[in-house]
Amino acid sequence: MLNNSISARDYDAFRQFLEEACGIVLGENKQYLVASRLNRLLKELQVSSVGELIEQINKLPRSGLRERIIDAMTTNETFWFRDNHPYTLLKELILPEKAKKRPSQIKIWSAACSSGQEPYSISMVIQEYLKSRPGSLSNNFQITGTDISPTMLESARTGIYDALALSRGLSSERKSRFFTQQDDLWKVNDEIRSRVRFSELNLMNNFTSLGKFDIVFCRNVLIYFSSDLKRDILRRIAQTLVPGGYLFLGSTETIASYSDEFETVRHQAGIVYQLKPKSTGPTVPTFPGITLSRE
Ligand SMILES: C[S@@+](CC[C@H](N)C(=O)[O-])C[C@H]1O[C@@H](n2cnc3c(N)ncnc32)[C@H](O)[C@@H]1O
Repeated sequence: MLNNSISARDYDAFRQFLEEACGIVLGENKQYLVASRLNRLLKELQVSSVGELIEQINKLPRSGLRERIIDAMTTNETFWFRDNHPYTLLKELILPEKAKKRPSQIKIWSAACSSGQEPYSISMVIQEYLKSRPGSLSNNFQITGTDISPTMLESARTGIYDALALSRGLSSERKSRFFTQQDDLWKVNDEIRSRVRFSELNLMNNFTSLGKFDIVFCRNVLIYFSSDLKRDILRRIAQTLVPGGYLFLGSTETIASYSDEFETVRHQAGIVYQLKPKSTGPTVPTFPGITLSRE
């Protein structure tokens, strides 16, 4: 299928479908992107146009086609220890703070984890922290990696990566410490994998069933969404965080104008957002026998 073979009408219908299905907002002139990402699927299904594809989804809503299109359209770029600063902050600020309070368990959510590099990098930092300060924290961490893409999750669950994936962001020291070579591939060691669980989740849907988290990584995914959806997701993330919980966004993403429920914590390594204490509203003085009302 050629870029210009998507009619304006089909392109509009496809943009609407994609935003409703997974929140991704396509720009005005991204026909080339749609064409290149759907090419294989269209060939396999012997469907000649994007319009026909949309018709098929409407005709056969339970065929799994919707999910395959979302899978094809998501950008899954990721690498180990992306941007470094979240991992430095975890090691130098958050884990030492937790060590003082000694909670029985620490729960961390990697909310768009792609092929798993983010949650496994978190687990590696925890491993390094526990090793450098034995006994400072109990080894009871639960890291939940979620993503909308079943293909990415399948790959994340295996914990197996090729040389190219491994070359991105991983020092040779960490590679030899945390991976075992299997022919041309490398597998994340069990001690790192054992803290991480993966499940499929569309961030547009309710995620209260995941429970409460101490730390949320929601990095490099909100950029694809509308302002309204960003606001909605940040509001719901605030509800999943424990009091004083932390939120990491991508380095090109900001919370400004989307949420006032977090304060910015600036550390020499970078920025993290912390859930503000709940406001209890203005205090109303009470006098015996007199009822005062709140505005
Ligand atoms: C660019 S990757 C970011 C991966 C990782 N967080 C990082 O920063 O390296 C974005 C991920 O968001 C996922 N995604 C896109 N829309 C989503 C949605 N509505 N719900 C959950 N995940 C979504 C994609 O499948 C993709 O794996």
